[in-house]
Amino acid sequence: MSHDLADKTLFLETFGCQMNILDSELVLGQLARLGYRRTADRDGADLVLFNTCSVRDHAEQKVYSRLGELRPIKTARPDMILGVIGCQAQREGENLARRFPHVDLLCSPGELDRLPELIAAVASTRERAFALHGLQSRRSSTLDRAREHDALEALDLSRSFSPDASPIQAYVRVQRGCDKFCTYCVVPTVRGKERSRRPEHIVAEAQMLARAGCREVTLIGQTVNSYVQVDEAGTTVTFARLLERVAAVPGLVRVRFVTSYPGDFDEDILRVMADVPNVCPFLHIPAQSGSDRVLRAMRRQYTAADYYRLIDRAREIVSDVSIVGDFIVGFPGESDADFAASVEMVRRVRYKNSYIFKYSARPGTAAFRNQPDDVPEPVKRERNRILLDEQEAVCQQLNRELLGMTVQVLVEGPSKLAADGSTAVARGQLAGRTQADRIVVFDPPPGAEPASLVGSLCEVRVREINPYSVVGELVAVAAPLSAPRPAVTPLGYKGLTVLR
Ligand code: SAH
Ligand code: SF4
Ligand code: F3S
Repeated sequence: MSHDLADKTLFLETFGCQMNILDSELVLGQLARLGYRRTADRDGADLVLFNTCSVRDHAEQKVYSRLGELRPIKTARPDMILGVIGCQAQREGENLARRFPHVDLLCSPGELDRLPELIAAVASTRERAFALHGLQSRRSSTLDRAREHDALEALDLSRSFSPDASPIQAYVRVQRGCDKFCTYCVVPTVRGKERSRRPEHIVAEAQMLARAGCREVTLIGQTVNSYVQVDEAGTTVTFARLLERVAAVPGLVRVRFVTSYPGDFDEDILRVMADVPNVCPFLHIPAQSGSDRVLRAMRRQYTAADYYRLIDRAREIVSDVSIVGDFIVGFPGESDADFAASVEMVRRVRYKNSYIFKYSARPGTAAFRNQPDDVPEPVKRERNRILLDEQEAVCQQLNRELLGMTVQVLVEGPSKLAADGSTAVARGQLAGRTQADRIVVFDPPPGAEPASLVGSLCEVRVREINPYSVVGELVAVAAPLSAPRPAVTPLGYKGLTVLR
């Protein structure tokens, strides 16, 4: 790049799911290599980026208000570069640019490898620059999907960590896009068709992370269990087999994955979970509704009975499995009886927790076109509250069962919350997560340097459960972290062949 971009500041705010969190990390790495330092001072930054989500209207509204706030700031500081990247940039495209003329750049999730190029173009020409599918995109006319996949692959593999700044937990993408087309959902339209990544690349990325000191990897995909790809030897690798390969990476003490799609769920995955000790007994497997009528209208391709059967099998094969769900309340046509079936599901499945959303009609989806958003807002709100209360009751029950138990905690660092939930400095306490992804706070052993336990697996007895955290006492340090963390360089892309 001819342009010297060194020594500038970047403000980046991320909305949405794990895919966006990972994309933001890649963007930060990409821009750090160009000399951008991250800042918390949005209004004083040289480059302001919003990595956006379109899954519900609320997430998009937040971005509009941010962009509104930045209008006068951009007038006062015209050299600031303001960009919207991610799913909303793709969904709204030029409409967003028209509504917010002070936005300098737009970039789809599928074009993020081009972000440095866009920034350089804006900086040198002061013209706006867009990289969107179906618009001024090198991939728009023929939609060269293989090239897109390669370019995004290179971006994924460009990831690097310095050993002193490496996180204990990290995401690794196993697939892009989604083919399910649930009628309410924008993801397939903004993220494109489902493509599974090469198993070699996924494993190489997990190895790089482990070498940098990362101890837990979360494999991510919109329907992670539908992963399937052929490896270099020509062997078909299903998600269960991929899970085994990642779990075998030296240094990884935990592997988990999100999000599972309940249709066509392969029981082999459950067997790997039961047999491989570092695969967490944890399933995030959204049902969305307990009513067959609603599931059909959502085009979810399974019935409530299928779902219950799957949960029963999961509990048979993996006795201590923790189950997390998602529900949408107020889907078009949802009756009281339909909703009651969702309440029943929360009760019967006993989710560790559920993410509960009020239906939001999204332009571009089948439900938006064909199904009037006919459940009134107050009814949606009421159903949301009822389901949350139901889930809360389940949580309290599960919490009571947890009291006095000894859980395995992967220590992530100093606790941000004191045991009483206040944000006051937490007396050198440590925080980590259980295999079921619960945050546990505990005191380090007397005389020990708390930092020395970061990255260790500890046995902690649960003493107290409060609204903000689980508090416990250290029983034993199961796996101390002894090896020094070596320096790690980005993965070479060239050494790995990409399958088309
Ligand atoms: N791929 C994941 C979910 C991705 S979106 C899966 O299928 O499980 C995350 C969650 O947002 C969904 O599980 C759903 O509960 C919710 N969601 C998606 N579209 C929505 C909409 N239009 N209104 C409300 N909630 C929605
Ligand atoms: Fe959206 Fe359905 Fe795909 Fe999940 S499976 S991302 S809800 S279309
Ligand atoms: Fe949102 Fe895009 Fe994820 S729409 S949920 S950020 S894939």
